[in-house]
Order: sequence, then structure tokens, then C-alpha cells
Amino acid sequence: MIKKMAAGNWKMNGMLDSLKEIERLQAAHSNSKIDIVICPPAPLLLPARKKAPDLLIGAQDCHQEVSGAHTGDVSASLLKDVGAAAVIIGHSERRQAHAESSALIKEKATAALNAGLTAIICIGETLEQRQAEETLPVLKDQLEKSLPETATAQNTVVAYEPVWAIGTGLVAEPAQIGEAHRFCRAQITKQLGAKAANMRLLYGGSVKAANAAEIFKIDCVDGALVGGASLRFEDFSPIIEALETA
Ligand code: 13P
Repeated sequence: MIKKMAAGNWKMNGMLDSLKEIERLQAAHSNSKIDIVICPPAPLLLPARKKAPDLLIGAQDCHQEVSGAHTGDVSASLLKDVGAAAVIIGHSERRQAHAESSALIKEKATAALNAGLTAIICIGETLEQRQAEETLPVLKDQLEKSLPETATAQNTVVAYEPVWAIGTGLVAEPAQIGEAHRFCRAQITKQLGAKAANMRLLYGGSVKAANAAEIFKIDCVDGALVGGASLRFEDFSPIIEALETA
């Protein structure tokens, strides 16, 4: 049985005052049967951990090296030290705005796994790639180049986030999500073997309370990586509930 996961990526949003949203999630979902991960900006990781002992706290990026002269970067081991259980790696906003390649993402994911963090590795095609019918080859290439050989169903999660569906209100069609997730499941198993056959596959891109239940019915969807709708308790809690009852 695959344990489902609802992960909230706050991106560069939230202030100290936003910790009250995490407090409310903790109060409402402390006994959840699914994994609930909140990924606030790095300075909020430690206070978030203190507010939510029964939820998982995740970071949004880490450096590929263990330590050293890398001004502004944060190591995976420090993330772990301040209470993070997971880290998002290779989000499309970092692939695009920070020119992160799949090769770099694999190095970062390896650093995360070595530090004992769960790596949530993001992949997804752009609108141009979908229109050119390159979606599955792009996903294959990203999986081949981004996933460490040491990735297993226990230590790694893959988030399929079509770039054109992020923050746009455009949600991929159920058939598009199903096709991509089935393809990823097969590709990951081919690449890494039985140890990765049950790796969790999250969908991300304009997930909201209103569409969550429909998305969670789709074959091979084990949860969601939620951006905008994870910022407020009122928006994220119904998505968690939809996954708990899916
Ligand atoms: P939205 O849910 O705001 O579309 O963002 C998705 C995302 O990028 C999560 O990582």
C-alpha cells in the first residue's frame, strides 16, 4: 500500500505570521494517515517544525555540496538539522530561473538522500514541448538524468508538474495526467528496478479544493504538490481531506 502525500510548496511566500496556518494544519491533521509536507521558505523551517511536530517539514532547494564556500546556499545536512524531513529538488522555477540542469538536480538529490532527507524531484514539460508532442520523451530524459541510482520508493518522490499548469489556473486533463503518471511509473521501474516500483508520484499544477478529488481518482496519482492553494489553511485542508478519503 502506497502512503499518499499532500505537499505544499509555499515558494517565496509567507512571513513569520504565516506560521499560524501551519499551527492550524497541525491541529486539524495531526493523526492523518497520509504524509502532509509543508515547504516554507528556509528561515521558517525551524519554527514550522516546532509548530507542527506531527506534520513533515520540507525545504525548497539545497546545495549539492556537503559544506563550503557557497554564499547564500544551504546544505542538505543543515536542512535536516533544523528539522526538515524532505526537500523539493529541481522545481521548474529553479530549472528555468536558475538554469538548473537535470545533471545538477541529480547531484542535489544525491546530497539530499545522503543527508537522510526525502527528495521530492520535480519534472514536467513546457507548453512548447507538449504542443510539439515531446512530453513523454522530455519526461524520460528528465527522469533518466535527474534520479540518482540510489533513489528508492522510500527515499524519493517524483512530482509531475507540467510547466504550463503551474500558477496559471490551467489544470492538465485527467487523461494527460494519467498518461504522464503511468509513463513515469513504468520508466522509473525500468530505470531503478523493483526498489522504486512504488515510488510516489505527485501531480502539481493549479491543484485546488475544487479539482482535487477528481485528480486523486486518476491511476498512478499518489498525491499532490500544491503551490498557491497551500498557503492558507482554508484552501489546503480540503485538499488534504480529499486525499485522505481518496
Ligand atoms: P500552483 O499550485 O500554484 O499552480 O503551483 C504548483 C507548483 O509549482 C507546486 O510546486
